[in-house]
Amino acid sequence: MSASMTAQGKKLLLVGGNGMLAGKIAAVAPPDYKITAVDLPDFDLTDKAQVLAYVDDLRPGIIVNCAAFTNVDGCETEQTLADQVNGVAVGYLAEAAKSVDAVLVHISTDYVFDGEKSTPYLEDDQTNPQSVYGHSKLSGEQAVLASGLQKYFIVRTSWLYGPGGNNFVETIIRLSKDRTELGIVADQIGSPTYTGDLANAIFNILETSTSPQPPVPTPFGVYHFSNEGQCSWYEFAKEIVSLAEKNGETLKIEKINPINTEDYPLPARRPKYSVFSKKKYSQVTGKLVPNWKEGLVNYFTER
Ligand SMILES: NC(=O)c1ccc[n+]([C@@H]2O[C@H](COP(=O)([O-])OP(=O)(O)OC[C@H]3O[C@@H](n4cnc5c(N)ncnc54)[C@H](OP(=O)(O)O)[C@@H]3O)[C@@H](O)[C@H]2O)c1
Repeated sequence: MSASMTAQGKKLLLVGGNGMLAGKIAAVAPPDYKITAVDLPDFDLTDKAQVLAYVDDLRPGIIVNCAAFTNVDGCETEQTLADQVNGVAVGYLAEAAKSVDAVLVHISTDYVFDGEKSTPYLEDDQTNPQSVYGHSKLSGEQAVLASGLQKYFIVRTSWLYGPGGNNFVETIIRLSKDRTELGIVADQIGSPTYTGDLANAIFNILETSTSPQPPVPTPFGVYHFSNEGQCSWYEFAKEIVSLAEKNGETLKIEKINPINTEDYPLPARRPKYSVFSKKKYSQVTGKLVPNWKEGLVNYFTER
């Protein structure tokens, strides 16, 4: 009998449990999911023996991997660690999932693409990462495929923000309290994603496999999920300031100026365009994707 048909089915191991997305996954989980969250220092994803033993002991029906080395610029100088955490160790989790017949949900990123497209990225578009972080995350995806695990979802997302995280929204609010003028990059286009919407989407995707009779053909594979719509970081920042003021924040900011990527050099190269097509997600789950402005309003309501 498959794990999805037993009590093991909705026992969910949440790896990287102290992180921004993981916190929201634990918060919105439907009541029939039993969540065990693990993170450093007690649980180190790069310790293969520990990963295999832990999973063998817990016997989850689902493993959700939110653990990652997410400091994109930091990865440029710490390539070995990035490759271990974001790449090699993801293979340990896939192997562990396979050994107990669990479904693995692994979170990946828009930075696996080079950003040269001008129409929304599809799941099977050619990857071509431009940074150490992007390369390491692509290695993680490849480790899942190489493990031979059939029951996996790789969910790529972009421009993530939510409670408990050191994210772009909080950075803009903080800077807007200190300065009268800001220059924000206007030539990178993407889709901000609220962790609340992504967390719900992950459960919607999971439900397609844990229902008593999963669809045929199986829903497993790669998914793109970000909020609907697109903007530049500059447009995102303007919306953040506008909502912050509406929500009673006292800001000093008077002007936000659009600047080019070259005017704000960072160690890691970012894609110029990384909007996702969410067609596959909507077709498989039957759910709509909330717009990024709606996600931002919801974040302001709860922060
Ligand atoms: N943030 C974004 O804008 C963004 C965009 C696209 C995709 N993603 C992906 O979305 C996922 C969740 O991102 P997030 O922003 O929620 O991440 P996060 O807040 O940085 O959380 C990651 C968690 O993983 C933990 N971790 C790191 N190394 C570990 C290890 N060896 N063993 C166990 N746990 C470890 C971290 O612990 P420490 O804090 O102690 O290191 C942290 O608690 C990641 O896969 C990320 O690549 C994020």
